[in-house]
Amino acid sequence: MKRYSLLTPEDAASIINNNDMVAFSGFTAAGSPKVVPIALAQRAKALHAKGENFAIRLITGASVGAQVDDELATANCVKWRAPYQSASVMRKAINNNEVEFIDMHLGEVAQMIRAGFFGEIDVAVIEAVDVTSDGRVFLTSGIGNAPTFLEHARKIIIERNSYFSSRITEFADNLTLLNPPKRPVIPLYGVMDKIGKPYVQIDPAKIIGIVETNQADQIDSFTTNGETSVLIAHNVEKFLLNELNSGRIPNTFLPLQSGVGNINNAVMCTLGKNPDIPNFTMFSEVLQESVVDLILTGKVTGISASSLTVTPGKLQTIFDNMEFFSDKIVLRPQEISNNPELIRRLGVIALNVGLEFDIYGHANSSHVLGSSLMNGIGGSGDFERNAYLSIFMAPSIAKGGKISSIVPMCAHIDHSEHSVKVIITEQGIADLRGLSPSQRAKAIIGNCAHPMYKESLYQYFFKCKPSHIPHDLHHAFDMHVRFLETGSML
Ligand code: COA
Repeated sequence: MKRYSLLTPEDAASIINNNDMVAFSGFTAAGSPKVVPIALAQRAKALHAKGENFAIRLITGASVGAQVDDELATANCVKWRAPYQSASVMRKAINNNEVEFIDMHLGEVAQMIRAGFFGEIDVAVIEAVDVTSDGRVFLTSGIGNAPTFLEHARKIIIERNSYFSSRITEFADNLTLLNPPKRPVIPLYGVMDKIGKPYVQIDPAKIIGIVETNQADQIDSFTTNGETSVLIAHNVEKFLLNELNSGRIPNTFLPLQSGVGNINNAVMCTLGKNPDIPNFTMFSEVLQESVVDLILTGKVTGISASSLTVTPGKLQTIFDNMEFFSDKIVLRPQEISNNPELIRRLGVIALNVGLEFDIYGHANSSHVLGSSLMNGIGGSGDFERNAYLSIFMAPSIAKGGKISSIVPMCAHIDHSEHSVKVIITEQGIADLRGLSPSQRAKAIIGNCAHPMYKESLYQYFFKCKPSHIPHDLHHAFDMHVRFLETGSML
C-alpha cells in the first residue's frame, strides 16, 4: 500500500519541466486545480527572469478557472493550449499568436489522447476529494477528461481539496472507452443510468505526491435575465410547446442539453415555470446554476453532465440536501456526456448560443469576424450535430446594433447548414427543417434578423444569381468589411 508524499504547490510545480505536456482536471472552473497552476506561473516568471525558457503545453477538459488560465498566460507559461478556454488574458495571448490554440470538439479529446495524437502526457494535475493507497482517485465537481489523464499521464500530482463534501463522489460515474476498432456499445439507455465507477483506478506508483487545498471553484452567478434573453427564452418555449402539441416531441418530452450563459439561463428558468412543459431530464455537459432550482421544484427530474458549474452557495444547497440530490445528478467523463452515440440514441434537444448565422443556416460559435477566438466550439458541435432537434439561439444584434448576428455568409463556420435545424432570436423562430437553401434564407431573414438589417440582407439575397445556394462572392462579406472600416455593419 502506497503512502503518498505531501507536497507544497511549489514542490509540485518544480516537477513540471519546460515543454512538458501538462493536463489539468476539471470541466469549466469546476474541479480544475487551484494552487499548483498558480505556483507554476510563479515558477515560469522566476525562470524567465533568469533568462531560461519555460513554457508548457496545456490540455484540459474545457475551460479551467479563469484566474488559472489568466495567471498562466500573464506569466507566458503556455505555448500550446487545447481544447477550450474562456479567460480574457489567455484569449488575448491566443489572438496575438503567443499561444498556439487548438479548438476542438470536447467529446473527442479523450479518444485523441488515447490514440497519441498529441504525444504523451508528462504530468497530470488532478483535483480530487480523496485518493486511496491502492490508487482509487475520487474526483470533485468536474470530471471532464480527468479519467483519461489519470490513465495516460506518466506522472500525477493530486490536489486534495477538502472544500468538497466527500459525498460529491456519489454523483460520479467514471468510465473510459476503448479506442476503435475494439469499442463495444456504450450500455447507457437512460439519462440517469450508471455504467461506471465512483472513482478512477490507477497505478498508485504514478502519483508523485499530494498537495492539500481547501478552495471553492471560482464560479460566478449569472446576471439577472436581460430583456433580450427573456424574449429569446419565450420563443424557445413557444417552439417547444408547438412541437409537443404537434406530436413531434413525445408527451414524456426528451432530454434537454443546455449551453452555459445568460441566454441559456433564461431559457431554463422560462421552461421551468411553464406548467405545459412536462417535467424533463437533461443530458448536458454542464449543470448550471438555474438547474439546481429546477431539480428542487421537481421540473428537472434528473441530469447527466460532466460538471457541477454552480456557485459555492448553490453547491452548499446540494450538499445540505444530499439525500434528495444524490440520485438526481450524474457526473460523467466528457467523452460520455458529449458522446454522439448517446446524444443520438437518447434524442437530445440541443440548445446552444452562437455568435453569427448566415442566411442559409450555417453557424459561427467561436470566431469574431472569422478571426478572433472568443472561447471555442466547446461541446456545441458534439450536441448540435447529433441532436434530435438542434436549436441555436442568439440576440439578432450585438454591440448596440453595430453588428448583425444574421449575415449573408458566416466568416467562420463551426456548424454547417446540415446540422442547424432551428434558429431563434428575440425577433422570432426560423424552423429550417425541410427547407431548401432559398427557403431557409427567407425564413431566417424574415423571422430572425433585426429590422434594421432586414433590407440589406434581402437585397443581398435577391441580387444573387439563382443557384442552389445563391451567393455573390464579390459581396458576401460586405457587412463584415463595413464593420471593419466604419465600426458598424449598417
Ligand atoms: N460579432 C462580434 N461579437 C459578438 C457577436 C458577433 N456576431 N455576437 C455576440 N458578440 C459578443 C457580444 O457582444 C458579447 O460581447 P461583450 O462580452 O463584450 O459584451 C459576447 O460576444 C458574448 O455574447 P453574449 O450575447 O453575452 O452571449 P454569451 O455569453 O451567451 O456567449 C458565445 C455567446 C457564442 C460566445 C458562447 O455561447 C460560446 O462561447 N459558445 C461556444 C461554446 C458553446 O456553445 N458552449 C456550450 C456547449 S455545450
